[in-house]
Amino acid sequence: MNQRIQKHYSNIAHNYDALWTYNPDFIKFVAKNIIEKLELQVNDKLVDLGCGTGLFTKGICKQMQLKYPILCVDSSSEMLKQIPVNHSYEPIFMDAVEFSSKANNLDKILLKEMIHHVPDKNKLIANLFNSLNPGGIFLLILLPPTIEYPLFELAKKTYEEVQPHYKTIETIFKDVGFKTEVSFVSYPLSIDKVRYFSMVKNRYMSLLSRFTDGEIQEGLEEMSAKYLSQSTLDFNDTFVFMVGKK
Ligand SMILES: C[S@@+](CC[C@H](N)C(=O)[O-])C[C@H]1O[C@@H](n2cnc3c(N)ncnc32)[C@H](O)[C@@H]1O
Repeated sequence: MNQRIQKHYSNIAHNYDALWTYNPDFIKFVAKNIIEKLELQVNDKLVDLGCGTGLFTKGICKQMQLKYPILCVDSSSEMLKQIPVNHSYEPIFMDAVEFSSKANNLDKILLKEMIHHVPDKNKLIANLFNSLNPGGIFLLILLPPTIEYPLFELAKKTYEEVQPHYKTIETIFKDVGFKTEVSFVSYPLSIDKVRYFSMVKNRYMSLLSRFTDGEIQEGLEEMSAKYLSQSTLDFNDTFVFMVGKK
């Protein structure tokens, strides 16, 4: 992970969950979809790779309790510190590619909104294929090529330039041997405008760590003018759910 990204997650770790929990139903909805797509069973050995604060893993545990602790792997110690200390989770401070080269005997793998941070995606996905038991499932979740987020234009343009395209990842999945299915999961969000603006000011997405304080301020002014007459911002949060079966 490069220094800017490392610093971003160190800075944001303590209020990451608060920034993202704009709607508790949203976490519940995404966690339910994860459980379904992973066909999660009580006896599964599950890893959450690039788990961050475990926001969605915690959402999974609220809906079902697994027999083995969920391996929560992340290369930010500050993010990992937010995971509760109990038998449900085993935090592992490690780079995802390093973990993937050592792992074996896994039943299910979750990787949510982390693939954009990994330079060698081929190696990671090939290693993960090898680490799974026959019949194992890898669920990779990422944002689509364009997003509806009510961000300022430069942020949206930059997002479109840097976000990996899911079709490129789908090709890697198929090349390493996964039976692959892609679907889109959308949640209609309605966020209080003041709250969303504060999320942007706090650089709630790592994308926003690319901008200086001045650029963020200009972006917020642009957003203020655009959404002048609105008190809430309504948009669909859409995820690409890529399921690879071994
Ligand atoms: C956008 S957050 C997503 C966290 C969590 N999956 C979620 O959806 O809430 C990305 C996470 O990936 C972690 N990360 C970035 N590069 C990584 C790498 N090479 N190995 C392991 N974790 C990494 C970051 O520290 C951060 O916690």
